[in-house]
This record gives sequence, structure tokens and C-alpha cells, in this order.
Amino acid sequence: VESVIVAIDGPAGTGKSSTSKAVAAQLGLSYLDTGAQYRAITWWMISNGVDVSDPAAIATAAGKPSIVSGTDPAAPTITVDGMDASGPIRTQEVSSKVSAVSAVPEVRTLITELQRSIAATAATGIVVEGRDIGTTVLPDADLKIFLTASPEARAARRSGELKGADVAATREALIKRDAADSSRKTSPLAKADDAVEVDTTELTLQQVIECVVTLVEERR
Ligand code: C5P
Repeated sequence: VESVIVAIDGPAGTGKSSTSKAVAAQLGLSYLDTGAQYRAITWWMISNGVDVSDPAAIATAAGKPSIVSGTDPAAPTITVDGMDASGPIRTQEVSSKVSAVSAVPEVRTLITELQRSIAATAATGIVVEGRDIGTTVLPDADLKIFLTASPEARAARRSGELKGADVAATREALIKRDAADSSRKTSPLAKADDAVEVDTTELTLQQVIECVVTLVEERR
């Protein structure tokens, strides 16, 4: 295969981003963080006074911002209308509102088209991480991975990233977001039938990376 497409899905805090970036860098592939795109559109909606509790308002505004993702795994970027959004998309406000925005079908249609065009133009191939990549965005991916971990492990990792955030509060917020993402009608968080499930609870990041790299090489 000249070009390899890898889909990595799973709930928050399972190590998707760290794993996806490292695998892409090791194998010389592009990298796309689709969660960052949903965060970017959510940040634009909040900044522009769109009522994110109103799906009709979200649908109407969905096409307005221009979201551009840089796909270098060593330095991924995200801009909204030309502005660097990599900082503002990681706030707790965005994290708590992104599920409501990403559940709106008009938002998903636009972002999914963007994701497919980015994947189609990646020369050597791409690692795409998200929630519905294996099931909906790239159902013909060469390799699909579904990462899982216990809620405790996920909350501990995420509060480590947030430097000292309360583990119990982080755990509740993650569980709430995963429940919303898994139960929405359009393209919910789900494991594709042909995905390889990797439980990362007892694994180091390095072990997860090695496991995925081996699986990619087997399919190349
Ligand atoms: O991966 P991350 O936690 O940054 O994703 C933020 C949010 O974006 C998810 O909670 C989900 O609501 C949405 N998302 C999605 N589909 C994807 C990736 C992310 O709906 N493929």
C-alpha cells in the first residue's frame, strides 16, 4: 500500500492524541485531531454569541467559521478564520459545551467533509483520531483502533495533563461527555465492527504506541 489510513477512536483520556501523534511521527504519516476541529467550531460559537443550547442556532451558524488543521504530527495546528485557536480550544468551557455542538447533524456533515478531504490529500497516509472515524468518516481505513481505559485511569491521566485538576471532578466531567457523545443520534462514539480494541489501563504510552505501530506495519 502506498498510502495508509489509520483510524483511532475512543473516549476521552484513553491516550488517543499522544498515541496518534507518536505513531504518525514514527511512520512518516500526517496526523489529524478531529476533536480539535469540533472544539474550534465550539469556541467560535461561544465567542460569537451563538446559544449553544439551541441546536437550530448552531445549525444556522455552522458554516460561518473557516477551520484549518495543520497535519504535521510534530507540530499540529488549528486556526479559526486565520487565528491560532490551539490555546482557547482547551478551556473547560469549551470541553463542557463541545458535545452539544458536535451532536448537531449540520456541524457533523461539514466537519466530516473537511476530514475526508484532508485524508484524501495526505501523500504517505494519515493517522486520524476521534470518535466516529472508523464507523463514519473513513469506513475503508486500512487499520481501525478503538482505545479504552478504566474511568479512573482516564481521569488520572487527564487531571495530570491539566496539572493538579481535581481527579473526582475530572472523572465526572469525562463520564458526562462520553455519555453525551455515545448517546447522540448522529454518528455517536462507537467501536467499528472491524476495529482492534486496545485496553490501555495497564499499559504505558510506549507500549500502546508499539502495539499500534506493529499493527500498521502488518497491514502495509
Ligand atoms: O478528542 P477531544 O476530547 O478533544 O474531543 C472533543 C469533543 O469533540 C468530543 O467530546 C466530541 O463531542 C467531539 N468529537 C466528535 N467526533 C469526533 C471527535 C470529537 O464528536 N470524531
